[in-house]
Amino acid sequence: MPQLAGQVVIVTGASSGIGEATARRLARGGARVVVSARRPDRLDALARELDPAGANILAVAGDITDDADRRRLAEATLAKFGRIDGLVNNAGYGTRGPVETTPVDAIRRNFETNVFSLVALTQLVLPTMRAQRSGTIVNIGSVAGRIARPLSSIYDSTKHALEALTDGLRGELKPFGVRVTLIRPGYIVTEFVQAADAASERHLENAGPYQPFMTGFRLGYQKLRRVAGAPDDIAVLVEHALVSNDPAPRYAAPFHAKAFLFLKWVLPARLLAHLTRLRT
Ligand SMILES: NC(=O)c1ccc[n+]([C@@H]2O[C@H](COP(=O)([O-])OP(=O)(O)OC[C@H]3O[C@@H](n4cnc5c(N)ncnc54)[C@H](OP(=O)(O)O)[C@@H]3O)[C@@H](O)[C@H]2O)c1
Repeated sequence: MPQLAGQVVIVTGASSGIGEATARRLARGGARVVVSARRPDRLDALARELDPAGANILAVAGDITDDADRRRLAEATLAKFGRIDGLVNNAGYGTRGPVETTPVDAIRRNFETNVFSLVALTQLVLPTMRAQRSGTIVNIGSVAGRIARPLSSIYDSTKHALEALTDGLRGELKPFGVRVTLIRPGYIVTEFVQAADAASERHLENAGPYQPFMTGFRLGYQKLRRVAGAPDDIAVLVEHALVSNDPAPRYAAPFHAKAFLFLKWVLPARLLAHLTRLRT
């Protein structure tokens, strides 16, 4: 069983929410953690808190959608620690709104962050992992990668794409000793909803006839808060995947996530469509 202590793990999107909780958990377990996101102040504060001497933590601020920033992240990790044992592809955000009125640029941006940049960073760490003949890629997907909802179909389709990518990559990397897994969080209380609001604010003003349904969409999120999980519910699964000899292809948490995935599996598509229909 691989030990967590000493593993060098890159965590993207570590300035808040699931990524931050993951960095904390891994650092406390003795991993050497490289944290990345756009907000340097948050990253530096986290790094100072977790390891004031800075021997076992490295903060590399950058935008995951920027090629030079991604290269800097991979290179700085190798320069400081000399190896890469884990990559937690967590940075991401949601675009919400109707397909009809969401500008294609906004759709591209969401795919750029959640899918293309994730692939590009993965490409940068794979030569190292293959040479080591070991490593673990942990992709943070979503229940939305299995169940698409009206007014969320852009974000949900980025997470659907991640499902296919993860499954294909798992088979490609198995001969090289690199493990690949996907975690499907349900609703976790983080800054995700605020970030989605900020990313969608402008084009939601033009949602026209769909506008009344947006209120129902927001109410849906508020209702889910009662069963929402905490970021550490996901961090625990990341840790589990990193120390497992043979990680499961997919994990889900908290309980409501597993329940929704079960319903997706057993319910006829027509009934699921009825349950997720637009409401005002
Ligand atoms: N919360 C949920 O209910 C939920 C459910 C299912 C899946 N997820 C997934 O979990 C992951 C983490 O989300 P979260 O809930 O923890 O939300 P969050 O608190 O908003 O965290 C998102 C993180 O991603 C980073 N990020 C976003 N865009 C970036 C960019 N262009 N470059 C670099 N970093 C970027 C943010 O940092 P900066 O702003 O500092 O760059 C932040 O650290 C996402 O992939 C999300 O889709 C969340």
